[in-house]
Amino acid sequence: MNFNKKSKKIGWAEKLLDKMAQNKKYKTEIVSADDAGIAKAEKLLSSGQVVAVATETVYGLAASAFHDGAVKKIFFAKQRPGNNPLIVHITTLNMVYPLVSEVPAKLNKLAEKFWPGPLTIVMKKSGLIPLIVTGGLDTVAIRMPSHPSIRKLIDVCGYPLAAPSANSSGKPSPTTAQHVFDDLNGKIPLILDGGTCEVGVESTVVSLAGEKPVLLRPGAITLEQLQSVLGKVEVAKGVNEAPAADSAPLSPGMSYRHYSPKAKVTLVVGSEDAYLKYLSENNLSENVFALCFGHEGEKSGLPYLSLGEFEDSVAAQHNLFSALRMADEKGASQVIARCPKKDGEWYALFNRLQRSAGFEVIEL
Ligand code: TXA
Ligand code: MG
Repeated sequence: MNFNKKSKKIGWAEKLLDKMAQNKKYKTEIVSADDAGIAKAEKLLSSGQVVAVATETVYGLAASAFHDGAVKKIFFAKQRPGNNPLIVHITTLNMVYPLVSEVPAKLNKLAEKFWPGPLTIVMKKSGLIPLIVTGGLDTVAIRMPSHPSIRKLIDVCGYPLAAPSANSSGKPSPTTAQHVFDDLNGKIPLILDGGTCEVGVESTVVSLAGEKPVLLRPGAITLEQLQSVLGKVEVAKGVNEAPAADSAPLSPGMSYRHYSPKAKVTLVVGSEDAYLKYLSENNLSENVFALCFGHEGEKSGLPYLSLGEFEDSVAAQHNLFSALRMADEKGASQVIARCPKKDGEWYALFNRLQRSAGFEVIEL
């Protein structure tokens, strides 16, 4: 057999290798999200490319939600598993209706209260949304962001943008253009710099696709806020526990190791006193960092990173991912983080830290 002879049957492999090589050769540019930057991004998106863009939660890696080939590039650049669906971003309620096959009764009320903002709503999808966007599911997650960068971009493009967080899969989500660059340099052509993301953790995800509303991911919009509009909201099984190896969670993103810096993360839930006592009683080796509030860092006697003012949950959400990235920059071997509570306004912070810590939680 002549192994040098090109076989028609394996032409796909060569094509794919070519594509992979291409995917690495971008000279990734960071540009300001002004009119010129938005115009440049629109050109790329309309020719089937991907672009990273600021939102109020975290940076997203966007492609036209109607373009299979472009969406494929998102999965490739992030190294994201194909069964983990993407969020579709829109700027008006009218953009939602053609994307869904059923309009949930509570959609308008929910949108009125929380859109534009950090809330994603899962609904039954219409045929307009390609299955590659939804990871093969018959539902689609839709969000109306408030950040002017992504809003201008959607409006100039005129089509919805599919966008997951713009990190490498498994890493903490990016809250600055530089974080995106650190993860995806060479893999994407453009980053639209819209400053530091205000919220800092990804949107709350709620499903209205079934009979009862279900929380799929806690975020800045709390469970209690959702319940004030929807009545009882169930919490999906994968949200609070480590996923069983053989289960198929409602929100596939919940099943992956997530938000992980290189440093080992240990999560302590409790008061300042209990946390400081824990730190002093454990013979901690070098390069262990405290991740905590206000003056706790100084009191800990360890090198530390700050989550912001004492027990300010909004600041802590804002600071979390950049602190986890900073831990790696400083060469931390371990980060011991404090979260005051597991629920209410602390639910999103607890949820992200719990995943960074591989579900090992020390409750004091
Ligand atoms: O704030 C955010 O939501 C950011 C910004 C860029 O909008 N995006 C973001 O996307 O965090 P991503 O892909 O990192 O997280 C989306 C989450 C995943 O957990 C995914 O599994 C879930 O939403 N999701 C998406 N579509 C879904 C669907 N049809 N059904 C259930 N879960 C879905
Ligand atoms: Mg993500």
